[in-house]
Amino acid sequence: MQRQNKYAPIIGILAAWLVWKVSGLYIQEPPYTEEERIAEYHRRGYTWPLREGEYVPNVKGWKELMKRRFEQVIANTEPQERWDGWLQTIASAKTVPNFTEFGWGLTHGPEQLTLELVDAVYKGIPTARGEGQLDILDGPMPLFIDREDLMHKVLFEMKPILEAWAGIELEPSIAYGFRLYRNESRLWMHVDRTQTHVISCIYHIASSKDADPWPIVVEDFDGHTNSVVLKPGDILLYESAKTFHGRPSRFKGTFYTSVLVHFYPKEGWNSIDRDLECHYAVPPKWYETQPSSLEKLRWVGASALEPECPDSWCNLRCAKTWKGPWEYGKILTGRGRKFDLQLLPRDVLASRRNQVQSRVQCCLSNRSPAPSLWQTKCTAEVV
Ligand SMILES: [Fe+2]
Repeated sequence: MQRQNKYAPIIGILAAWLVWKVSGLYIQEPPYTEEERIAEYHRRGYTWPLREGEYVPNVKGWKELMKRRFEQVIANTEPQERWDGWLQTIASAKTVPNFTEFGWGLTHGPEQLTLELVDAVYKGIPTARGEGQLDILDGPMPLFIDREDLMHKVLFEMKPILEAWAGIELEPSIAYGFRLYRNESRLWMHVDRTQTHVISCIYHIASSKDADPWPIVVEDFDGHTNSVVLKPGDILLYESAKTFHGRPSRFKGTFYTSVLVHFYPKEGWNSIDRDLECHYAVPPKWYETQPSSLEKLRWVGASALEPECPDSWCNLRCAKTWKGPWEYGKILTGRGRKFDLQLLPRDVLASRRNQVQSRVQCCLSNRSPAPSLWQTKCTAEVV
């Protein structure tokens, strides 16, 4: 009698996987035909135009901002740009839920960590490598200093701060740095990928002595555009898959560096493919155009620019400017509100899991309205 090899089932599975992979039969991106995509759109109950209650969050300023963007996307006569515009705008307007009241906040990092990061940047500059050219970036290729050890530390130290701000448990995605932007750089406005870059921060470390202030621009749920000037050690908290952000003005100076830190909700977020979901939410007639009197909105891949306006972003004309340095343990946010950052005990975060679970699923069809969130605790208004 022949003996059964106990590893046979595993070997079989591996062999099948290898044949499938090598044969090219695995699903290519995107994993659907247009007919299949439209079927998924209807199966989820998406509709267009969005009804008033379907914008997320369902507040006046945000709805006006998003309606303006949709109108510009629909007026774009380049099919690829129009598709890219639909994808980014539907994510921002609807399929990605918000977790905070305004979508952004300014705080300050722990002094000791900032000093360590500044030191690493100046030591690393002589051997910095080229990062590579990025779609999202206009200007010279950034330099890059590899310090994986410090990035782990940043990810670890930022987690409780971002959890306290967002009020939910987070899963670390990546701390990315140090990227050194160079003279004449600018970063087009965009939203980040939805699977992993949801609750994020920009931890500003250093810039050269000859550097001009270089504001980071971020939209908020009031529909306002905020221009935030960071000082070393300042941290911009932002919902990066939800709010358009970038540095559309040109940087003047030798270098400017920050660490980009990304998290996503721990509860229920990864149960579906979020990036794919944005594709399903684009309406079937996305290819139809309609002229508009608004300024032209162009798309370079996933990035947006309005070439007819100064610094290629029209809402900068009415942007609110905020300047660091801000304080450790405090947060400044929309309408000039400020509050204390209270680190949340694990059991408090854990007790919110059910609420978070329904929140992360809320925006994936028109069937379930987004439940309201706890509000930020405002302690004072700043003029
Ligand atoms: Fe980004």
